[in-house]
Amino acid sequence: MGQHSLTFRINGHDRQARVASNTLLVDLLRRDFGLTGTHVGCDTTQCGCCTVHVDGEAVKSCTMLAVQAAGREITTIEGLSGPDGPLHPVQEAMRARHGLQCGFCTPGIVMLLADFLARHPAADEKAIREALDGNLCRCTGYQHIVDAALAVLQPSDRGGADV
Ligand code: FES
Ligand code: FES
Repeated sequence: MGQHSLTFRINGHDRQARVASNTLLVDLLRRDFGLTGTHVGCDTTQCGCCTVHVDGEAVKSCTMLAVQAAGREITTIEGLSGPDGPLHPVQEAMRARHGLQCGFCTPGIVMLLADFLARHPAADEKAIREALDGNLCRCTGYQHIVDAALAVLQPSDRGGADV
């Protein structure tokens, strides 16, 4: 299997790694760079736990080869907000609306919503639920997550403090 010495732009920093041709992006992030907020729940593109942004677009990182991500802008949950900066609006809404369920799925859900809501500012509940269909929750359900997503788009319509 070929090996490649590549530069990756991750959370605003250039990082070097030597990767095999078949290394998955999720394994590069977790194993080589210690970014373990990105999880592996299935390895078969079903659960969404591994969702990150590549060039601003939500991508399941178990479905992308590391070599495909070289030179592109990768953001993980660790880089969604600045080191000491405010939470991203999706993070803040998830906190305020009790959308933080298990730590395994939540990072992927936050990354999916951060991309989806930015691109669909007029999304309704149905559209949000459809967007979430690739991010599986097996514990509680989606109501608080959907409430949080709606609060990002319509903070004053949802009651309580703006997020
Ligand atoms: S680990 Fe990537 S979708 Fe489940
Ligand atoms: S949020 Fe992880 S199983 Fe429900």
